[in-house]
Amino acid sequence: MTQARQHSIQVVAHRGASEDAPEHTLAAYRKAIEDGADALECDVRLTADGHLVCVHDRRVNRTSNGRGAVSALELADLAALDFGSWKDAAESPDWKDPSLTSVLTLERLLELVADAGRRVELAIETKHPTRWAGQVEERLLQLLGRFGLAAPESPTDSAVRVMSFSARSLSRISAAAPTLPTVYLMQFMTPRMRDGRLPAGARIAGPGIRVVRNHPGYVARLHRAGHRVHVWTVNEPEDVELCARLGVEAIITNRPKQVLEQLGRL
Ligand code: G3P
Ligand code: CA
Repeated sequence: MTQARQHSIQVVAHRGASEDAPEHTLAAYRKAIEDGADALECDVRLTADGHLVCVHDRRVNRTSNGRGAVSALELADLAALDFGSWKDAAESPDWKDPSLTSVLTLERLLELVADAGRRVELAIETKHPTRWAGQVEERLLQLLGRFGLAAPESPTDSAVRVMSFSARSLSRISAAAPTLPTVYLMQFMTPRMRDGRLPAGARIAGPGIRVVRNHPGYVARLHRAGHRVHVWTVNEPEDVELCARLGVEAIITNRPKQVLEQLGRL
């Protein structure tokens, strides 16, 4: 792909290499790092006893052998569950190793990234932060602070960014950590978004691929407004091609290896 090589697009592994391994597990994130992903995406939720864990859904039913809401379970309850066996599309020994498929705390993911041996960025999405009235953001910033990641010198230097569909969550983050980059996620085009402006507290635009496909000119408008553009979830080769042509800064994908190959980086 010649156009894609003209600028550098960051390839972000969505929930890890989640096409090949069970999402949000150490197995998926290790694979993404091995595959060469530039960054890892994860969703975070608070457990009943105040730990941030990497789980997408409100409940654990789809991705584990347990039942119930993450917010009603303690970390020890979650640690007893198997987050790997639900994914049976292919065989992998890693998915049978409980140390790689038990619930993943954000702390453990931060350790993995710190030990990666190369720069691997993290795009952390706060899930349902409004319900917890600031607790998710508070815990997140505490944890990032422990890893020396909460106060980068400038947003462009930061190895971590915080994403959300909630403008309120991002404004809490930017008020408490002004140099930490924030990404406003957009599932649909709304009248307020059309001119390329983002809510206060958001620095980077995070449109879904459908918004990009259905609204030609929107990425250019965001760029003219001074925003970087990170698009999710981009799995199809024609969408990768489109994003490359539009010059987006990051592609968030379940298939980091295939995207890197298509971009000519492997
Ligand atoms: O990277 C943003 C994307 O993950 C948002 O959608 O539902 O996969 O969290 P979802
Ligand atoms: Ca997400």
